[in-house]
Amino acid sequence: MQDTQSLPPPRVVIIGAGTGGLSLAIKLKQQLGYDNFTIFEKGHDVGGTWRDNTYPGCSSDISMVMYSLSTEKHDWSHSHGTSPSILSYWKDLTTKYNLYPRIQLNTAVTSVTWDDAMKIHRISLENVKTGEKWVSEAEVVVSAIGVLEVPRFAQIQGRENFKGETWHSARWPSDGGERLRGKKVAVIGNGASATQFVPCITEDPAVQVTEFCRTPNFFLPPVRIEYSATRRWIYRNIPFVQRFWRWLMYLRHELFYLLIFGSGIMRYLSTKIATYYIKYVAPKEYHEQLVPKYTMGCKRVIFDTNFLEALHRPNLDLNWDGVDRIIEDGIITQKGEKISFDIIIFATGYAADKFPLKVHGIRGSIQDYFVENNGPQAYLGTTFPGFPNFFTILGPNTATGHTSVIFTNETQADYIIQLITPILTRHVATIEVKPEATEEYNEKIQKRLAGSVFVNCQSWYRVGGTGKITNIFPGATTLFWLWLRKPKWGDYTGLGLEEWLQRRQKNKMWNVVRWCVTLLLLLGAAAAVGVVLQRNGALPRWLERW
Ligand SMILES: Cc1cc2nc3c(=O)[nH]c(=O)nc-3n(C[C@H](O)[C@H](O)[C@H](O)COP(=O)(O)OP(=O)(O)OC[C@H]3O[C@@H](n4cnc5c(N)ncnc54)[C@H](O)[C@@H]3O)c2cc1C
Ligand SMILES: NC(=O)c1ccc[n+]([C@@H]2O[C@H](COP(=O)([O-])OP(=O)(O)OC[C@H]3O[C@@H](n4cnc5c(N)ncnc54)[C@H](OP(=O)(O)O)[C@@H]3O)[C@@H](O)[C@H]2O)c1
Repeated sequence: MQDTQSLPPPRVVIIGAGTGGLSLAIKLKQQLGYDNFTIFEKGHDVGGTWRDNTYPGCSSDISMVMYSLSTEKHDWSHSHGTSPSILSYWKDLTTKYNLYPRIQLNTAVTSVTWDDAMKIHRISLENVKTGEKWVSEAEVVVSAIGVLEVPRFAQIQGRENFKGETWHSARWPSDGGERLRGKKVAVIGNGASATQFVPCITEDPAVQVTEFCRTPNFFLPPVRIEYSATRRWIYRNIPFVQRFWRWLMYLRHELFYLLIFGSGIMRYLSTKIATYYIKYVAPKEYHEQLVPKYTMGCKRVIFDTNFLEALHRPNLDLNWDGVDRIIEDGIITQKGEKISFDIIIFATGYAADKFPLKVHGIRGSIQDYFVENNGPQAYLGTTFPGFPNFFTILGPNTATGHTSVIFTNETQADYIIQLITPILTRHVATIEVKPEATEEYNEKIQKRLAGSVFVNCQSWYRVGGTGKITNIFPGATTLFWLWLRKPKWGDYTGLGLEEWLQRRQKNKMWNVVRWCVTLLLLLGAAAAVGVVLQRNGALPRWLERW
């Protein structure tokens, strides 16, 4: 048998340089000092969500002390970051950890195929600029391709017939403001993205906006504040203060989970507050349509970014009649009214229920596996039976609607690092989750989801908007962290795993024995010294009593 320890270190491929992929890369360097990895990124730079979403007003709705890497504090100017500030934070980290040389930009992974004979993945790649194609190999592949990544245009008849300009909220043109000036603009959708940019674009009275809304959202008052110079100084200079604030924010977000998702009584109170807020700020004419009839929390609760106030502007109308079809110069509503437009902006979300990457495992593709299971599923959102040495960050049922996804990204990265360490040290060749563990886990979470608020409306958390809930995690992130803190090795199988676990167990036992023997020797030596001192009358008085 070949001496595996003399082989070069195994190769790790990370797909995607968003917050998930970068978190893992940083941790590989920080925790293991490991840098035999490559990140393939189809975009022109790192940042994922925060590179792509440049629409006006785009910002986080989670406080930045939480929506950042736990090990990397930063001098934030506001409680909640704008898209450019978040992007710049991640670009700085990429430079700080010298990751750019390990990232191949403009490089799309088109498929990943497991070669079971060679125990490696073959990764098909394409340069998105030149079209050049090639194949790379790696022992370990981690997909960090995100969920809110592939723009979804609503399936509205006639989109291709429109003669004016159209774009998606995640593909905002750099001169968008100029293009919109003096134009009649239709915005389709009223989710978190639309409600952030609509108040910004309607600040210009020369932009006339009609927003087509289908389902209302619950709003809570704005949360974003500017930090004072003193506060920033304290965060920068007094040790642990920012960390302490992070803990407090963590608890606040978890409390928010309990308020909205945890208990019926608390949800009732939260619903009252949100309804009162909507009615207090929005124009009376919209009250009936703006207050949701579904259970709060079923869709992402939106922290208002001046959207409700902006509804008072004369250049902004909400239209609840439904879009029937798009024609050459406008939109026909389901009531048969024709409205002319120069520009249509699709704020219609993302194809979050499809896994856009072709991955072939031992028995078939990941797409087949998802079809067999009525939608995406994984074990702890991270591993899939039949797909050795393949891992995901932000995989099925890992998203949160109440706290930082970066916390989830990090929790998964820490978990993956524990799983792949024996592969990276070449003690184990493959790691694969057992099918029965995956089934058991998914039964458990689907049972929790069946009794949750998420079944009460249409959302991107579900397959096709109304099917199986495959995106959201049914619990507070503390529970997610507890489940992923240490791998349950019994749920995994793999080549060399059993032997490695036995050796690890033996080493652990030997360590305990070593500690016990050392302790006994020390005690024995101390006792011997004591006896000698006593015989010579040199024992201190306070010790004599002993
Ligand atoms: C507008 C907006 C605001 C948000 N605000 C918040 C917030 O406030 N708080 C919060 O917790 N979450 C928020 N989210 C969710 C956000 O997506 C996550 O917080 C997080 O950024 C996801 O990071 P990721 O790395 O997992 O995925 P992404 O950021 O989506 O990154 C995935 C990367 O993979 C690359 N990629 C994809 N496919 C391939 C391929 N085949 N080959 C090569 N590269 C590929 C993409 O180009 C991208 O760079 C927001 C999402 C959106 C859209
Ligand atoms: N930091 C933040 O605050 C922030 C900002 C933006 C995004 N995000 C994250 O990204 C997620 C996605 O947000 P998003 O707003 O981009 O997408 P989204 O929440 O999926 O919203 C899409 C919107 O388009 C509407 N829509 C879809 N098809 C339609 C049709 N045929 N006619 C009319 N309306 C249609 C939807 O209506 P229905 O509701 O009826 O389906 C919904 O209002 C959020 O949930 C959040 O997690 C966060």
